[in-house]
Amino acid sequence: MTNQEYLEDTANALVARGKGILAVDESTATCTKRFAELGIVSTVDSRRDYREMLFTTPGIEDYITGAIMYDETIRQNGADGRPLVDVLTAAGVLPGIKVDIGTKPLANAPAETITEGLDGLRDRLNEYRELGARFTKWRAVFTIDHDMPSRYGIETNAHALARYAVLVQEAGLVPIVEPEVLLDGGHDIHWCQEVTEAVLRSVFEQLVAQHCLLEGMVLKPNMVTPGSEYGHQATPSEIAELTLKTLRRCVPAAVPGIAFLSGGQSGEEACENLNAMTSITQLPWQLTFSFGRALQYPAIEIWGGHSTNVPGAQAAFLHRAEMSSAASLGSYSRAREREVRVSG
Ligand code: 13P
Repeated sequence: MTNQEYLEDTANALVARGKGILAVDESTATCTKRFAELGIVSTVDSRRDYREMLFTTPGIEDYITGAIMYDETIRQNGADGRPLVDVLTAAGVLPGIKVDIGTKPLANAPAETITEGLDGLRDRLNEYRELGARFTKWRAVFTIDHDMPSRYGIETNAHALARYAVLVQEAGLVPIVEPEVLLDGGHDIHWCQEVTEAVLRSVFEQLVAQHCLLEGMVLKPNMVTPGSEYGHQATPSEIAELTLKTLRRCVPAAVPGIAFLSGGQSGEEACENLNAMTSITQLPWQLTFSFGRALQYPAIEIWGGHSTNVPGAQAAFLHRAEMSSAASLGSYSRAREREVRVSG
């Protein structure tokens, strides 16, 4: 099998029909913050126990194709001594790794950010592949405000995303390309649509210019929504219509799949919005989820750092994974959410 065929196989496996990707790649700082909100002490072991709890959920493979880890996690062993990578692989879940090292203020535009991590990336990728990773993630972040994001902020981040993507493919790994336009702010949905379109146009210009194999990548975008401080909520059909319009304008049909981030939406909201998109037929790509918070809550709250709560937390995680899978198939509804919860 050529590297190109291998990449296409991996990308297609990540967006297999009815399944999606678990994002559990919070940096230690972010994980510590989420734990602190719930009164959970953050240590190397408690972070390991939490991730292991998710990975060992019976039935995870029915809904989840891949799990994105953080550098600490990909090096850890579970309670039985097996590397967590092997725990995932044995469950039929592809191991993935976040390879960016976070955001820094952008020079000459300090209110905007640039994602860092390109220096030494080629060597890190080889190490991650040796550790068992099959795919990677890099997140660029864009904030909507008066004159932001600027063209400069969009283009520098798009350039870095494409540099990342082609280095990853060279290493035989599939890049998840994540340009996230944040939900924060008082903007309306049309403003979000314009910004998301400008960002995606620039990202694909750079991916093509840098010879990215489009068939061997997965796009992880935000949904087009009003800002979290905007006065009116949009309906799932408005969100679906504007998100798909934007994606149709910008994302080549050669890309096998689009896996949305949840970006602070609740699990139910994210599922409703995804469902509204997958209910529309004749899309050129597989649409699915790569949720972080929308899959992990309420499981993380139920777990609370106590091993006795593992079965309840795993049931809650599996429930959100099942609902997200239903949303990727266009068969999700709030009624189904309640039915399953009552009977389960
Ligand atoms: P959320 O779904 O919580 O936005 O997390 C997805 C992710 O990977 C952010 O980088």
